[in-house]
Amino acid sequence: MTVPRPVRIGVVGGGLMGRELAMVCGRWQHLVDHPASPRVVAVADPQPAARDWFRAIPTVETFAEDWRELVDRDDIDVLYLAVPHDLHEDLYVAAARAGRDFLGEKPFGIDLAAAERITAAVEASGAFVRVSSEMPFFPGAQRAIAYAASGALGEILDVRSQFAHSSDIDRGKPINWKRRAATCGEIGVMGDLGMHVAHAPLRLGYRPATVYAMLDNVVTQRPGPNGDMEPCDTWDNALLACRVPPGAGTGERPFSMLWETRRIAPGQMNSWSFEALGMDGGVRFSTRSPAVVQRFARRDGEQVWEEFQPGNVSAWPMVSGGIFEFGFADALLQMWASYLAEREGELGARFGTATPGEALEAHRVFAAALASHASGRAEHC
Ligand SMILES: NC(=O)c1ccc[n+]([C@@H]2O[C@H](COP(=O)([O-])OP(=O)(O)OC[C@H]3O[C@@H](n4cnc5c(N)ncnc54)[C@H](O)[C@@H]3O)[C@@H](O)[C@H]2O)c1
Repeated sequence: MTVPRPVRIGVVGGGLMGRELAMVCGRWQHLVDHPASPRVVAVADPQPAARDWFRAIPTVETFAEDWRELVDRDDIDVLYLAVPHDLHEDLYVAAARAGRDFLGEKPFGIDLAAAERITAAVEASGAFVRVSSEMPFFPGAQRAIAYAASGALGEILDVRSQFAHSSDIDRGKPINWKRRAATCGEIGVMGDLGMHVAHAPLRLGYRPATVYAMLDNVVTQRPGPNGDMEPCDTWDNALLACRVPPGAGTGERPFSMLWETRRIAPGQMNSWSFEALGMDGGVRFSTRSPAVVQRFARRDGEQVWEEFQPGNVSAWPMVSGGIFEFGFADALLQMWASYLAEREGELGARFGTATPGEALEAHRVFAAALASHASGRAEHC
């Protein structure tokens, strides 16, 4: 058994995701024999209520209003940066210039230009930096990605990567920073959910060369803090039809790939799915039915879809038995296990957290999608 290395983490942005990380660290012993032992020791957030939530976490020593206090600290090993998108660039660039290792929330900058400046700063820094994207860590997703990577699909025909929820189907839901272009970004729902659909395809080498995009802003105003209606100027739904040039293991023809991100997908709570079909085989997985992975094969002259259960067999073993159920919080635990193990040089052949290069590539597709929607034509990424 390895002796785990203590890792002191500073959280910038004590909102939804900052709190999720505190919970991940609180149950770290769920992992069996991991090389790192993280704890949250500091939080920075201008909102007193957000900071106060962390007072119940016994390991937290520092409660800062200004994130600069954390970026300047040498006794913090890793930063988790989880703030609104308009704040990504200043914070991520400052963290990189200070040589801080960090896991930055997606989309890694409010737009392509910001993502370029952030990745340039990261490259120049030598810091160990990765991008948050946890859904591919579901055991079923891992099995689907591995199957696609194995070459079992033969010549690729079609890939679909989707994230669909309906948190915006209620027109009376108050506006917040995620529903304003100034704070979420012109890319709207692609900034929220796009990295989630880009991670697995990009890791498999499915890189869009062109994109034809259909973007929808369905709910154009929402109640503000005083109840008056305010403009809600972000894209709710985005359907990106991409063309992928031939690459290693995909065949000799270009193929089609759909990236779908939807905040209004009736009937969906929080469904991430991945499907890849080829001439020899196919695979699909959705967190809507996370206990099963479906595989396609031609056998004895028949076209057969079959399913198997991946169980609770994750990249990083957990105390919970292999037959138990896996969920969102487990995916976050697995992503952090992956990030911190890779930081220790102990990832091995396991699936790695999304890279700044992948975030930049995703941003290129999103920028081309905006251009395509405006021009009505497919655009180069
Ligand atoms: N990986 C995922 O599944 C996932 C899910 C939701 C959100 N996110 C991403 O996480 C990031 C944060 O989203 P969230 O849902 O946690 O938002 P949130 O609104 O719940 O929390 C954001 C926090 O940042 C704080 N903040 C604002 N300005 C700040 C500043 N100058 N310094 C420090 N903190 C500041 C706010 O007070 C708030 O507490 C975004 O990039 C978002 O896209 C990722």
